[in-house]
Amino acid sequence: MEMDDVVNPKTILVTGCAGFIGSHFVRQFKNKFPTSKIIGIDDFSTGRRAALESSVILHEGSILDEGILEKVFSRHRPEYVFHFAALPRVSYSVEHPRRTSEVNIVGTVALLEMSKNYDVRRFIYSSSSSLYGGAKKLPTKESENYPDPRSPYAIQKYIGEPFCKVFSELFGLDTVCLRYFNVFGPGQYGDSPYSTVVSAWLESVYFPKKKKAFIEGDGKQSRDFCYIDNVVTANILAMESKQKLEGEALNIACGSQISINEVKVLIEKYTGKKLLLEKRPPRPGDVRHTCADTSRARRLLGYHPRVDFEEGLKRTVQWFSSRKI
Ligand SMILES: NC(=O)c1ccc[n+]([C@@H]2O[C@H](COP(=O)([O-])OP(=O)(O)OC[C@H]3O[C@@H](n4cnc5c(N)ncnc54)[C@H](O)[C@@H]3O)[C@@H](O)[C@H]2O)c1
Repeated sequence: MEMDDVVNPKTILVTGCAGFIGSHFVRQFKNKFPTSKIIGIDDFSTGRRAALESSVILHEGSILDEGILEKVFSRHRPEYVFHFAALPRVSYSVEHPRRTSEVNIVGTVALLEMSKNYDVRRFIYSSSSSLYGGAKKLPTKESENYPDPRSPYAIQKYIGEPFCKVFSELFGLDTVCLRYFNVFGPGQYGDSPYSTVVSAWLESVYFPKKKKAFIEGDGKQSRDFCYIDNVVTANILAMESKQKLEGEALNIACGSQISINEVKVLIEKYTGKKLLLEKRPPRPGDVRHTCADTSRARRLLGYHPRVDFEEGLKRTVQWFSSRKI
C-alpha cells in the first residue's frame, strides 16, 4: 500500500450520502480530498435530494439490491467504504422491527460481503451508542461496558459490529466501528415524529406550525451531544489510520454531559426566543445519562472533539434561522 494512496484515495463509496451525516461527510471530504471520486448510494427513504452534493456520482437505490451493489463495486472499485445508510431512530424500529432489521443488518452484511469481494482497504461502519442500553459507568468506556441493546435499532446497530470483526478475522477485510453519541447539527431537520431533541426544539422555535415541542420527565436527564463535524472528522481519521483496526469499536462523542434543561436554556439564549414545551411523562426505558470516554478513539485515531456543544449549537441555530422551508 503506497502512502500517497492512503492519504488521497482515488475512489470512496458513501452509503446514505443524502442523509444528515452522509451529506456533511461528502461535503467535508470533497474539500479535503478534491481529486477523489465519491460514489454514493441512497434510496432517499430518509435522505433529501437537496442535501445531496453535486460532486457525488449517485446510484439511486437500496443497499439491499444486489444488482446495484455489484454494479457499483465492479465499476468503481472503491478503496474505502463509509457505511452511513440505515433506517435510524429507536422508536421507528420499535414500530418496524422487520423492515429496519433488513436494512440495518442485512444491508450491512451485504456491503461487507461486497467490500471483501472487491478488496476494499477499510470498511468504516456507523455504529451507535444506543447499544450500551441502560445506565452505565460514566464516562462510558468501551472496555468496561458490554453492549446491552434494548431496542430493535440498538440490536441492529450492535450486530453490525461483530459482523465487522468476523469479516476482518475470516477474510482480512479491515473494518472499524464508530459508535456515535447523539449527533446534531445543521441539515438535521426536526419535523419528523422521530426527531431528536436539538433539531425538534429548534424546529418548533423557527417553524412553529410544523412542530410542537415537548419535554419528557424532569429534564434532568443528560446526553453527550456530538456536533456533526466531530463525526465527520472521526470518519476521515478512521480512513487515514495507518494501523489495522480489525473491527475495533470506538466511542465518537464530545465527552461532556448536557442536561435537557440546559439545552433549553442555551436554545433560548442563542435564538433569543422562548421555547414553549408541553410537559410529558418520562419515556419508559429512557436512559437517564450518557457520557462517553473517547480515549480509545484518541489513542487509535488521534480523535479529539474539536467543536463543543455550545459552539455546535450556535452553528445549528444559524442554519435554522436561515432556512426557508
Ligand atoms: N444521527 C445520530 O445521532 C446517529 C447516532 C448514532 C448512529 N447513527 C448512525 O449514523 C448513520 C447516519 O445517520 P443519519 O443521522 O445521517 O440518518 P439519516 O436518516 O439522515 O441518513 C440515513 C441515510 O440512509 C439512506 N438509506 C436508508 N435506507 C437505505 C437503503 N435501504 N438503501 C440506501 N440508502 C438508504 C437514507 O435515505 C438516508 O439518506 C446511520 O447508520 C445511523 O444509524 C446516527
